[in-house]
Amino acid sequence: MGSNAPQSESGRFIVFEGGDGTGKSTQAARLAEHLDAVLTREPGGTPLGARIRSIVLDPDHPELDDRTEAMLMAADRAQHVAELIRPTLASGRDVVSDRHVASSLAYQGVGRGLGVDAVASVNRFAVDELVPDLTILLELPAADAHERIGGSPDRIESAGVSLAELAAEAYRTFAEQSPGTWAVIDASGTIDEVASRVRAAVDERLGR
Ligand code: TYD
Repeated sequence: MGSNAPQSESGRFIVFEGGDGTGKSTQAARLAEHLDAVLTREPGGTPLGARIRSIVLDPDHPELDDRTEAMLMAADRAQHVAELIRPTLASGRDVVSDRHVASSLAYQGVGRGLGVDAVASVNRFAVDELVPDLTILLELPAADAHERIGGSPDRIESAGVSLAELAAEAYRTFAEQSPGTWAVIDASGTIDEVASRVRAAVDERLGR
């Protein structure tokens, strides 16, 4: 049973995607506040998911296999959808998630070279037919994003520039392939400027 069957009482599922340093988390929080939506993230949107996150992003485990990485992301997501996203949407409330399936397609499918189709298939099983109503891709030139990144890199960030670049390129392709459900937003400028671009895109695509 798809949760995307048109139901007037169903909340809207909006996902933010983009590379590290694009301001994704800040903008996801701003939009969630504006919509009075539930704000969440992947990996780590549930208590069990937080434990999976600590494993998958642990820089002390460089031996973690790429397929294991993809499966852990998908396991986190399955729990997230079942425990939080689907029940919230069913209650009529909107959900804003910082990352979702497209992150796995970009980072594991393309970045790690596992293949988009293979990773998509694992994720189809994980999410059980849920698809975002809108995915917002925040785009920023790599040099600008680099300036915004703080803190110590997680295991995946430590994989280096080429993984991040491959993922960024993959995101652009996904957005081009699905213009109806993706919005590409220029993430340069102030937080307020980007937030108003995001709101305009959401109103235009999902306004009701
Ligand atoms: P995130 O918490 O969004 O970190 P940041 O705010 O620094 O972007 O994501 C953590 C890392 O996990 C990030 O490097 C991207 C990676 N990731 C994947 O590789 N695949 C996935 O499916 C998800 C959800 C995240």
